[in-house]
Amino acid sequence: MCGIFAYLNYNVARERRYILEVLFNGLRRLEYRGYDSSGIAIDADLRSPVAIDKGEGNDGRKEASRLPYNSAPPLVFRQEGKIESLVRSVYSEVDAMDLNLEKSFSVHAGIAHTRWATHGVPSPRNSHPQSSGACNEFLVVHNGIITNYEVLKETLIRHGFTFESETDTEVIPKLAKFVFDKARDEEGEQTVTFSQVVTEVMRQLEGAYALIFKSAHYPNELIACKRGSTLILGVKELSDDKNSGKLFHDVKALTKDEKPKELFFSSDLCAIVEHTKNYLAIEDNEVVHIKDGCVSILKFDYGREKPASVQRALSVLEMEVEQIKKGNYDHFMQKEIHEQPHSLTTTMRGRLKDNSVVLGGLKDHLKTIRHSRRIIFIGCGTSYNAALAARPFLEELSGIPVTMELASDLLDRQGPIYREDTAVFVSQSGETADTLLALEYALGNGALCVGVTNTVGSTLARRTHCGVHINAGCEIGVASTKAYTSQIVVMAMMALAIGADKISTQARREAIINGLSDLPKKVAEVLKLDGEMRDLAKSLIDTQSLLVFGRGYNYATALEGALKVKEVALMHSEGLLAGEMKHGPLALVDETLPIIVIATHDACFSKQQSVIQQLHARKGRLIVMCSVGDAASVCPMGSCRVIEVPQVADCLQPVINIIPMQLLAYHLTVLRGYDVDQPRNLAKSVTTE
Ligand code: F6R
Repeated sequence: MCGIFAYLNYNVARERRYILEVLFNGLRRLEYRGYDSSGIAIDADLRSPVAIDKGEGNDGRKEASRLPYNSAPPLVFRQEGKIESLVRSVYSEVDAMDLNLEKSFSVHAGIAHTRWATHGVPSPRNSHPQSSGACNEFLVVHNGIITNYEVLKETLIRHGFTFESETDTEVIPKLAKFVFDKARDEEGEQTVTFSQVVTEVMRQLEGAYALIFKSAHYPNELIACKRGSTLILGVKELSDDKNSGKLFHDVKALTKDEKPKELFFSSDLCAIVEHTKNYLAIEDNEVVHIKDGCVSILKFDYGREKPASVQRALSVLEMEVEQIKKGNYDHFMQKEIHEQPHSLTTTMRGRLKDNSVVLGGLKDHLKTIRHSRRIIFIGCGTSYNAALAARPFLEELSGIPVTMELASDLLDRQGPIYREDTAVFVSQSGETADTLLALEYALGNGALCVGVTNTVGSTLARRTHCGVHINAGCEIGVASTKAYTSQIVVMAMMALAIGADKISTQARREAIINGLSDLPKKVAEVLKLDGEMRDLAKSLIDTQSLLVFGRGYNYATALEGALKVKEVALMHSEGLLAGEMKHGPLALVDETLPIIVIATHDACFSKQQSVIQQLHARKGRLIVMCSVGDAASVCPMGSCRVIEVPQVADCLQPVINIIPMQLLAYHLTVLRGYDVDQPRNLAKSVTTE
């Protein structure tokens, strides 16, 4: 929810046009996080008269006279709508201002933001960067929520500040100006440093945030800090490009003596990978200050007057640029559906050995998990559904009761969690606010906390005691597809590892491991249904609603299939437990309402056959998903539409069965003319409760 990005070039000449394009591209990569409005701030020409924006309430010229002699108020551009509308409006404004796009800056600091509105409607006024007022003395881009903003706002209003937006963020730059002015009035010019201002601001903020500050008082400097939300620093040494980017080798400490030439801040790695592979996942309460091309990091501590300086090591990103591009596909969702044979292979790589499973991130905790009183799966949306798909085989192989919790519901109820519990948190992004709050709650109650996430360095990965990365690769489409199947596979491997001490289930485990090895091939097979699912989508294009019935291993498939249709095709759809059909949903059945029944071959097959018959008897408009070769037995009169899918080990069947549903949702969306990758009102990473 919201993406923030910054680009600072140091000691290397970059034209204004180039700087703008780097900022726009950063936003394009982050657009999936929120896309209702966006904005950037760049430097003006020195003391350009156009740069003096009087803002509201304050005297712009008086404020401008207080800026350093070589500084001019930064230029801010904000626009409602998608990134491309910002791009168009910036170029036309730049043109109207007669700003030279070819002007070269040997050092320049730009910041950018793409928004998913929480406080205040999407509008230029509520977009970021938010400003301290006239002359944009302090500018801030923010991802997260400031929970005490109302108190801060009242205080600042009492000190003469006027507010123009409805956002929580606006208090931050105004607070920075307040702190700066106060320190300067008390101690004279030049005494307060940028990091002192920011740490004082941090001291007063409550909530979750990742922030980037730009200031006219500190030209060519940037500061980023965070608490809760993710923030990445990317470091590129241009002179080393010729040496195949080896400057930082594997991992290298960042010291004050090194002067990287291009630096980036970003809400996630996707916006950095095309520039550099050297990155640092900024930790909570760290204040990262870029000045004179050097990076210094302070660790903020509430208890201490002064933050301590810390040294951190850079990591090397294992991600290829291709991962964040659409390639030959029209949409990211389409690409991500079709790359599942590959993503599943990567998920399993190095983890299946000689009929056993090796999960490095879990091995030291397996004994504790085996002794737990229960295992609780916690997640939201698709991640919850993946856990639900894993529940039956985890129960079967571990013999431990497994319960399910939607993170928000657990928090609402403050449901009981004990020291003897293992809580497994499932999250693609590793940043979902509800899931993270539930994690803090479980940690507080003493449970062993295990993370299953796609995002290395995410808060979930860092806060859990142990866990497994699903390694599905960057997922950009807002609708989760390849992460879902990789999550199920990781949880299957977890179940195999946890149950590995049981001789009685050895044959079953071996069968599942064989099934896992075969899975990418079977997924490639089921993807051949693409055309068939497109035809089915055509036949459903005008329907109001779609029901999906599943049970056993495929109850989760019904929920997840319906969620996909609902969120991207904007069609009402419900996933239902087939066993509950007679207890209410049957009343909806008529000739018009399409119903998908998942009836692939497993222990529930005969029960699903009876469900089909009952629906048939009521003239239901049936579409049946069955195993290859079962068409005649699920649909004896040939009176329903059949989707035949390859059969795999029963507990892995949800991985196969969800794929036609993903394809159906995708084609329905395209045919209905909706935005596939950025569905209405949604954002990929939901970092607010
Ligand atoms: C649906 C979807 C969402 C997410 C949910 C949790 O396609 O993507 O339902 O699954 O918001 O997100 P993560 O997995 O990042 O915690």
